[in-house]
Amino acid sequence: MDFETIIEPFKIKSVESLPITTPEQRKDYLVREHSNVFGLKSQEVTIDLLTDSGTGSMSSEQWASLMRGDESYAGSKSWQRFEEVVRELTGYKHIIPTHQGRASERILASICVKSGDIIPSNSHFDTTRANFEFAESTPVDLLCKEGLSLLDPSDFKGNVDLEKLEELLKSEDGSKVPFVLMTITNNTGGGQPVSMENLKLVKALCEKYKKMFLLDACRFAENAWFVSQREDKYKGKNVRDIAKEAFRLADGCSISLKKDGFGNIGGLLALNDDQLAEDAKNLLILTEGFPTYGGLAGRDLDALAQGLIEITDENYLQYRTRSIAYLGEKAISYGLPIVQPAGGHALYIDAKTFLPDIPPHQYPGQAIVCELYLLGGIRTAELGTFAFGVAGENGENDTPATHELVRLAAPRRTYTQSHFDYVAEVLEKLVENKDKLKGYEITEQSKFLRHFTAKLKPLA
Ligand code: F0G
Repeated sequence: MDFETIIEPFKIKSVESLPITTPEQRKDYLVREHSNVFGLKSQEVTIDLLTDSGTGSMSSEQWASLMRGDESYAGSKSWQRFEEVVRELTGYKHIIPTHQGRASERILASICVKSGDIIPSNSHFDTTRANFEFAESTPVDLLCKEGLSLLDPSDFKGNVDLEKLEELLKSEDGSKVPFVLMTITNNTGGGQPVSMENLKLVKALCEKYKKMFLLDACRFAENAWFVSQREDKYKGKNVRDIAKEAFRLADGCSISLKKDGFGNIGGLLALNDDQLAEDAKNLLILTEGFPTYGGLAGRDLDALAQGLIEITDENYLQYRTRSIAYLGEKAISYGLPIVQPAGGHALYIDAKTFLPDIPPHQYPGQAIVCELYLLGGIRTAELGTFAFGVAGENGENDTPATHELVRLAAPRRTYTQSHFDYVAEVLEKLVENKDKLKGYEITEQSKFLRHFTAKLKPLA
């Protein structure tokens, strides 16, 4: 359309009330949960930006496809529809459904990874890393230097550092690499895209050193959209065609369909190699289900097939990425430091730069998370020393994480412009309150993944 205003390219058919709470209630809820927003009940959260995973809205066509769901144990029509759409999109020979991304990762780790292996990536997502570590291998992140700098506004900050990758592949350690995994878009690095050029050069390196090339393609459509906007050779090209080309550069992929599958649940593993696919299917039967449903209901497969058709709608992708960029522009105008440019699925606040007086072991990111909830009932996620730092022993400080970030992840097709305006207003207030913010201390924590359950207390 020839107007500047980018509209939500959908209208609303079914609504769910947003809980509106008072500041006093929010304070009580947060005290009850020991300042950990994972403990909050959803009816206590007004705008939930904890994750974009499985939290999106289905279209009326997806709801209709649920009714078409065929619950036959083997060879259901829903499976056939799912397989057909995934094959058209990805081109891979073997398609294996799973209940979510980490199930695909666990199978991949079991069939392809052995003790002592090294797995290079632009950046591994937490569950991917954990699954490879569980298989006693070493996942390594080889993100390009632009990606390492939070404020660098480069277009493709998700790219892998090709020199470092080749250095590893040609070294003695190269023989320990079973495959190279590229995450598109790069969630851990701020939801940043990977260029097609980078993917092609990774493919060339994989061919040269005879390695399998795999994608963690949870956000393949957002990546393809950014390519169509930013990469000269692809400007103006059809987004679905770009996504198809990206899949065809690799030998397989793992996808959490809770993101760009428009699904509330679901995942897949796809491989070209016959033997690996057979191994994967055997394991799937053991832990997930028969290979034509993989732990999903027939209706889930049908809704996902429809979601995978809708996700490359360019009007939708424009609205989605524009919503996040808009929030980013507002944040910058208030003087709030963010990872630049804004990511595809989320905005990341740089808590270290914003709150330089709160040291990492007093969790500046968590101070922002709590303040955003107290101010406006907005739930976000800390991705800093609270989530990734190593707990200090006997009163020592924690070993800090590389960055102190807070992620505002947007569920798909769920919030409207006025919701984003509301979030922006709360961010403005956060900046006004900056000098009042205090650090936190942990009073109780578990050994692993402490941020889900730890108890904290604000410092006096
Ligand atoms: N890979 C990436 C890049 C992811 O972002 C996620 C999940 C997974 C794999 C695992 O998929 O959750 O279906 O098992 N990311 C969610 C998030 C949890 O909030 O970023 P899953």
